[in-house]
Amino acid sequence: MALAIPVATETLAGEKLARAVRAGLASAPRHLPPWLLYDEAGSRLFEEITELPEYYLTRTEHSILARHAGEILAVASAGERLRITELGAGSAAKTRLLLAPAVARQGSVLYEPIDISMTALLVAQARIERDVPGARVRPLATDYTNGFALDPAAPRERRLLLYIGSSIGNFEPAESARLVRKLRTQLEPGDSLLLGVDLVKDASTLLRAYDDAAGVTADFNKNVLTRLNRELGADFDPAAFAHRARWDPIHSRIEMHLESVCAQRVRLAALDLTVNFCCGETIHTENSYKYRQGQAQEMLVRAGFAPAACWTDTRGWYAVCLGVAG
Ligand code: AVJ
Repeated sequence: MALAIPVATETLAGEKLARAVRAGLASAPRHLPPWLLYDEAGSRLFEEITELPEYYLTRTEHSILARHAGEILAVASAGERLRITELGAGSAAKTRLLLAPAVARQGSVLYEPIDISMTALLVAQARIERDVPGARVRPLATDYTNGFALDPAAPRERRLLLYIGSSIGNFEPAESARLVRKLRTQLEPGDSLLLGVDLVKDASTLLRAYDDAAGVTADFNKNVLTRLNRELGADFDPAAFAHRARWDPIHSRIEMHLESVCAQRVRLAALDLTVNFCCGETIHTENSYKYRQGQAQEMLVRAGFAPAACWTDTRGWYAVCLGVAG
C-alpha cells in the first residue's frame, strides 16, 4: 500500500497541490480545486457542517436510507450475498444504516471503505466494528479520482458500491458522467451502484445550506487559505476574504467563493508567486451540483446500468438512486 513510502507520497501530494494552486490562482477568474478544502481541519469542519440546521443534505439522505435500506438491499442482492464497498467513505457515519440490515439478512457482511485519508478510514473501521457486530472491515486508502481497481466479488456474491453523501456534486457534469462510466467498468454484471444526489429546490433553501448563520461554512471555506499559508508558506489573511455562496441556475450549481474585501497583495513563498487581488475579486473554491428529478437515473443508464430505482424524501429534496450493472 502507498503507506509503505510516506515520504514519496507526501512529495507527490505536495507537487500536485503546488501545481493546482499555481494554475488556479493564475487563471481568470481565479479558482482552487475543491479537494483542497479537505485537510484535517477542513474535514472536521465539514463534519460540523453536516450537523447544522441549514445543511439538510446529510439528515435527508440519512432518513431515506433509514426508511428504504431493506428495499435497497433486496434490489441490489437479488437473493445473493452482498459485499458493500464505499467510495469516499469518510467516517462512514451513514453506512451503519445499510450494514446492520445486511448483517440481519445474511449473518455477516464484508465492508470495504475506500478513502484518500487513512485517518478517516481508521475512524470508520473502529466505528463500524463497534456499532455493527458481524461486519468485517477491509479499508483501502487510495485517491479514487485517479482510478482504482476492485477485486471481483466472490462467486455467488454481488457487490454494492456506495457513492453517497452528494460527493458526486463536486464534479462537472462531464467529469461525473466519466466517473460513473469508470465505476461501471469496475463492476461485474449484477453488481450495483448506489448514488446519492442533492436535488434542485428553491434558491433560498440552497443558499442557506451553504451560508449558515453560525458561520461554519465560512470557516470551512476560509480554511483553504490557512492551508495554503501552512503548506506553501503563503501570507493570506483569512479575515481579508469574505465567504460567498451563489446559486447558478443555468449550471444548476451552488458555487463557493472567497471574495477579497480590499485591494491586497498575497505572497506564496514556496511557489515564488505574488498575487494581486482587486477589491471584490473572488477565488472560486467549490461547486456543488444539484440534480433535476430523473437526471441521476439518466446518467446511470448512459453508463451501462439498468434503469434504476430511486428513493427520495417527502419534500423531494434529495435522491438515492440504484443502478444495477447490465
Ligand atoms: C462534501 C461535496 C457533499 O457539496 O454539499 C458543504 C461540501 N461545501 N458545504 C456539498 C460542502 C460546503 C459538500 N460535499
